[in-house]
Amino acid sequence: MSLIIGTACPNFDAPTVIEFTNELLRHGTALEEIRRHVDAGSENPIEHACCATLFMFLQTREGQEQAEPYIASAERLLKNDSSQVEKHFVSAIRRWHSGDLPEAIRHLNEILKARPDHLLAAKICQILQLNAGDVEGMLTTAGHIDAQAGAPSFRHGLIAFAAQQNKLVDKADTHAKKGCEITPADAWCQHAQAHVYLAQGKLDDALTFLEERAESWDTRSSFMYTHNWWHIALLHLHRGDVTAALDIFDTHIWTQRKHHVQDQLNAISLLVHIEAEGHDVGSRWADVSRHAKDRAQDHLSPLFDLHVLCAMVRTGKSVIARKTLKGIEQAGRLAKDKTRWHDIALPLGQAVVQGASDSGHPLDALLTDLSPQLHLLGGSDEQRDTLHAWHRFQTKSKELTSGAAA
Ligand SMILES: [Fe+2]
Repeated sequence: MSLIIGTACPNFDAPTVIEFTNELLRHGTALEEIRRHVDAGSENPIEHACCATLFMFLQTREGQEQAEPYIASAERLLKNDSSQVEKHFVSAIRRWHSGDLPEAIRHLNEILKARPDHLLAAKICQILQLNAGDVEGMLTTAGHIDAQAGAPSFRHGLIAFAAQQNKLVDKADTHAKKGCEITPADAWCQHAQAHVYLAQGKLDDALTFLEERAESWDTRSSFMYTHNWWHIALLHLHRGDVTAALDIFDTHIWTQRKHHVQDQLNAISLLVHIEAEGHDVGSRWADVSRHAKDRAQDHLSPLFDLHVLCAMVRTGKSVIARKTLKGIEQAGRLAKDKTRWHDIALPLGQAVVQGASDSGHPLDALLTDLSPQLHLLGGSDEQRDTLHAWHRFQTKSKELTSGAAA
């Protein structure tokens, strides 16, 4: 079944691109297939651009270097008479590569205005919007794809998650339920439904819902697998079952792609949350920190950098933590829009490193002061909650140290 209706852009209708689109939407593990096709001599610019996204999704400097030749070849293969949709798509990947997320998002939205059925553009757009903290933009993009009848579950998943992140819980619930009804194993719809339950305060429903579907994640990307299990672990922790949370860390979260940024983010976040509740995580930080330090100087996501800082501080890697802070400061100086790196990530990073000072709780105060803008760090509300948990952990540690010294 073609996901992309119409014949205006035959390069998007190539079987490899359709398969790539399907895999991306289902959070599958076979995205790499397109690389073999491209390396074998494909002359389809869209296949080259899709191949570049494989490396961009790694969210690392090395990934960016690996993406560059595929973006360059995609640009070379575009012709004067290539469609506007093709040109917008390749331009979006180029802008993403150069760090200009707003412009990348603009190009993808241009595609969706012309082709509301273009789920490849919609999915990449939502990923970039989530990373950029463009919460309202997610809703705009969802609006472009909203009008289509006979929607596959993927479309409902995109709309549901955008609505939930914008506090439109009823709309999110309707679309998440519809998507799960069409395709019960749609992992993004399941994830959106779990977020809806969390927003509704139905924590038991969220846990039951996710656990009943967990088996279906075995063939999903490590991001989707570890992220959905991260949600389950946090729900167990909320019930006070730290044994279950630690078991999930050992069995499902820190078992996949340890070098992958999203796996690291889920692992760091869970350890922070467990310690914030006053529980011992044993020696688990050591391996997580060892892997995360390799990413400490990438500075491609302020939310991830703040997680890395937690790991570095927690394992006494103060030199790397200071270097990471300097990198965040530099990212703030270089950024076109200073807000997310300079005004938000930098003071939060300083507070993460500094800890609860004698003059108060700077991280806590900052999180309150910056709350209207925190979404600009990227990620979901639940992911950014790691910072509140880190504050609770630091406060507890300080109290324990003071108590021991008294
Ligand atoms: Fe989530």
